[in-house]
Amino acid sequence: MVDYSHKILNCKEYRDRKEVGIANVILENSLKLKLVIIQLGDDPSSNSYIGNKLKACERCKIEAELIKLDINTTQEELLKIINRLNESENVTGILVQFPLPAHIDAKVINDSIVYTKDVDGFSIINKGKLYSNEDCLVPCTAQGVIDILKYNDIEISGKKVVIINRSDLVGKPLMHLFLQNNATVTVCHSYTKNLQEISSTADILVVGIGNPNFITKDYIKQDAIVLDIGISFLDNKICGDVDFFDCIEKCSRITTVPGGVGLLTVTNLLTNVVKAFSMKN
Ligand code: GUN
Repeated sequence: MVDYSHKILNCKEYRDRKEVGIANVILENSLKLKLVIIQLGDDPSSNSYIGNKLKACERCKIEAELIKLDINTTQEELLKIINRLNESENVTGILVQFPLPAHIDAKVINDSIVYTKDVDGFSIINKGKLYSNEDCLVPCTAQGVIDILKYNDIEISGKKVVIINRSDLVGKPLMHLFLQNNATVTVCHSYTKNLQEISSTADILVVGIGNPNFITKDYIKQDAIVLDIGISFLDNKICGDVDFFDCIEKCSRITTVPGGVGLLTVTNLLTNVVKAFSMKN
């Protein structure tokens, strides 16, 4: 059997190193950091993501509080809580877990978080700063994609990048980050015609569509670098958008799900908490 392990972009090793760096900064500077996570309802995937965030905070000695609210909490009630946290001296970062129920306007909530505590980087001020190439709190998954490419010495400048995801959470910020790194970027979405034709031109393909194993070898170019940011559940097992076993031979590098970019999402949240602290002081 052919050994393809050299093709796997090792996100865990990078995550471990980065986390040790963050923990050291916190310890050496005796930083008192506090992250508050707000969750509405009891979505099982959200519970799992939040659990990972809380565990990472514990490992790095960041105080973390989960405010778990009823799914029927009104927008006004939620805004009141956020305002209180905005004003609280000992809160460094605020994160409202998505998805939110339909009666809540996610944009209003994102923009209600003071931008210096907006550790998700979803507020309009952080979005505008990212758009303008200004220093800001950058969305964690998008930053994770760039980080993992750089950690593995993969050249971004001049490369043709295709992102299949146009969300505010990942696709749009990632487009800006790739542009800042001098890539040529195409963003695809559910209305894109000839997706296969476009994706198979990519030197670097990033996929986040929530459709298990959708991307087969026919969607990738020979020797493409493939980053899978999709997370779904298939037969009760976590599963990405890329058919890993179909693509492994044709690609030059690939991430796995689990064990891929998702690990860096959590680490970059911790990075943003430290950064939020420095913005306050
Ligand atoms: N739900 C899935 N991913 C994320 C994320 O990065 N931030 C928040 N707040 N919710 C999410």
